[in-house]
Amino acid sequence: MATDKLWGGRFTAEASDWVQAFGASIQFDQAMAAEDLEGSLAHVAMLGQTGILTTEETAQITAGLHKLQTKLAQGELDFTIANEDIHLNLEKILTDEIGPVAGKLHTARSRNDQVATDLHLYLKKRLGMIIAELKDFQAVLLKLAQENVETIMPGYTHLQHAQPLSYAHYLMAYFNMLQRDVERFEFNYQHTDISPLGAAALAGTTFPIDREFSAQKLGLTEVYHNSLDAVSDRDFSLEFLSNASILMMHLSRLCEEIILWSSYEFNYLQLSDAYATGSSIMPQKKNPDMAELVRGKTGRVYGNLMGLLTVMKSLPLAYNKDMQEDKEGVFDTVKTILPAIKVLKEMLATATINKEKMAQATQRDFSNATELADYLANKGMPFRQAHEIVGELVLSGLQTDTMLQEIPLEKYQEISPLIEADVYQALESKVAVERRNSLGGTGFAQIKAEIIRAQELLK
Ligand code: ARG
Repeated sequence: MATDKLWGGRFTAEASDWVQAFGASIQFDQAMAAEDLEGSLAHVAMLGQTGILTTEETAQITAGLHKLQTKLAQGELDFTIANEDIHLNLEKILTDEIGPVAGKLHTARSRNDQVATDLHLYLKKRLGMIIAELKDFQAVLLKLAQENVETIMPGYTHLQHAQPLSYAHYLMAYFNMLQRDVERFEFNYQHTDISPLGAAALAGTTFPIDREFSAQKLGLTEVYHNSLDAVSDRDFSLEFLSNASILMMHLSRLCEEIILWSSYEFNYLQLSDAYATGSSIMPQKKNPDMAELVRGKTGRVYGNLMGLLTVMKSLPLAYNKDMQEDKEGVFDTVKTILPAIKVLKEMLATATINKEKMAQATQRDFSNATELADYLANKGMPFRQAHEIVGELVLSGLQTDTMLQEIPLEKYQEISPLIEADVYQALESKVAVERRNSLGGTGFAQIKAEIIRAQELLK
């Protein structure tokens, strides 16, 4: 006696409930229910178009699938572990809805091309959302940059004061990082925009199907040209996870700076109350939790990438059940990065920056030391010698708490007659920033040109 599974013909005994639960994916792949129905609608349209099914059968199945779409939207579909995955669950529900004609839907199709199609559709949709969200974030960075071309802050290397910067220049660095993220996701989109439907189990089919027709119905631009590759490829998911990992790495660096800068010691930035939380014991606390969480969630996204890389490693062609493990990490990554981008965008847009504190931090420090060395080099002194002289001035300045701009002109002229009264202007941090107009530098004119270039990119 066959079992009552949809594939039960050659089976005489059923697995126990816990084994079925272990093998099932319905617990998580129901996230692709809408895409599974879309895939089925395109497939049945193709079966009708090619005459593999009659007009009547095609109409019955199509109507049934539409009914399932409505029920899904209203939350009226009940899935069960006994039916293993989203594909068999929906097929069973369709059978209950329209009777045995539902069984014709699976003609010239396998769950192997079906699941791959669902994943392509699922990810393509989300990639569009992610790209849009990233562009929104870029627009916020660009707006803040426009408002802060002349906002001076210390620039760091090794987290030590290095040279002063424009805050706009700092923001535009993140704009450019996100631009590369957008471009990576756009490339990823192209690799996702391909239809595996019609590859069947692994070898294609003897039915006279029209794969281009179903791809077009699905809005997928291309078809896979090798049926084995079509059902075995998860590169598009891996690209997504690796792009998401790089994105999260970028966001975590920004978060780290937000966290540091909102500390008492820095006090460059104050988060809006809407993006901070208090402590249950210390009444004075305002914690940058959301930034910490985005930084922390980077870990799970990296984990999802490592997970899928490891699942796919050494898998023989074509489908293996291991590949059922491909989905949760992708779903989790989508659920993680969309709100992460959004929360950081809002956090930055609503934060107040403490311009005085930022500027002050460039006043009583030696971040203008390069300026003095450049000043001397400009007047003909070899840069190495200038570096040496300024280094000694910094050393004695540190001992006597005297900044370079506080050294009297007479003292400077003893050191070198090349130094004249205009040195004090050169030592002002704002002047130092304003003048750095080499291509890609922090000079005001450069930043303004960069902002125009960025506006073009966002169009
Ligand atoms: N639930 C399966 C998965 O997610 C669908 C494909 C099953 N195919 C098969 N031949 N068992 O991968």
